[in-house]
Amino acid sequence: MILITGASSGLGAALAKCYLEDNQQVIISGRNKARLDAVTQGQGTHICAIDADLTSDISVSALFDQVGLLQAQSRLHTIIHCAGSGYFGAIENQNPAAISALLQNNIMSAIMLVREAVKRYRDQAVNVVVVMSTAAQVAKAGESTYCAAKWAVRGFIESVRLELKGSPMKIIAVYPGGMDTDFWATSGKTIDTSCFMSADEAANMLKQALVSSQHGYVADITINRA
Ligand SMILES: NC(=O)c1ccc[n+]([C@@H]2O[C@H](COP(=O)([O-])OP(=O)(O)OC[C@H]3O[C@@H](n4cnc5c(N)ncnc54)[C@H](OP(=O)(O)O)[C@@H]3O)[C@@H](O)[C@H]2O)c1
Repeated sequence: MILITGASSGLGAALAKCYLEDNQQVIISGRNKARLDAVTQGQGTHICAIDADLTSDISVSALFDQVGLLQAQSRLHTIIHCAGSGYFGAIENQNPAAISALLQNNIMSAIMLVREAVKRYRDQAVNVVVVMSTAAQVAKAGESTYCAAKWAVRGFIESVRLELKGSPMKIIAVYPGGMDTDFWATSGKTIDTSCFMSADEAANMLKQALVSSQHGYVADITINRA
């Protein structure tokens, strides 16, 4: 069983469809129940949706309680954390409330999700895949607060990785480049994304890259835009 966050649209929704094609049991999550239901519509019985705001520890705990109930059917082996949002512009023009929402949706969501996953599954073979951005690898003018958020997530997961040394739970870091998803409209940035990767393309590449063997696993994945 796979839990995919941020799956009411974009990369997460595309990943859900990829894994359903493999007959995997998929749980998708996001805040917006109607958009989650639109993703599950017509996809059969191997997918279910649980709405949760990942910035709230109570909501994250409730999500994992529901995942736990579904474990009777199939074992949770992978969590893919895609939830996040964008906000851009010259720093002097950025709005404090929007900056706060950006930090919550990216940093707090990742911390709350990984914290709860480690609490519950650190002694089990569960792969926790955290989607960040190439903005966590390089500085970008006009993206200062977004870079700050993604760099924070990178520092967080690389530190938790050290805490998990010797544990069967693994953290996998993913750094995608530009994708043609709802992300841009909700970020408020008007940009031509027609030459960006589609969510389906990025999802297929990510799924193919997520491989492991008895004594090894792919730990860091960068998906560059061509
Ligand atoms: N698109 C790009 O060019 C690009 C490039 C590099 C990295 N990324 C990163 O890739 C990830 C996926 O982005 P995407 O392009 O697929 O964007 P998207 O279509 O906007 O999807 C983002 C998802 O995150 C969910 N979400 C946001 N805040 C949340 C919260 N507080 N709690 C729970 N769910 C939340 C949204 O669902 P609800 O609104 O239903 O909650 C939505 O399902 C993000 O982390 C993004 O930063 C995107």
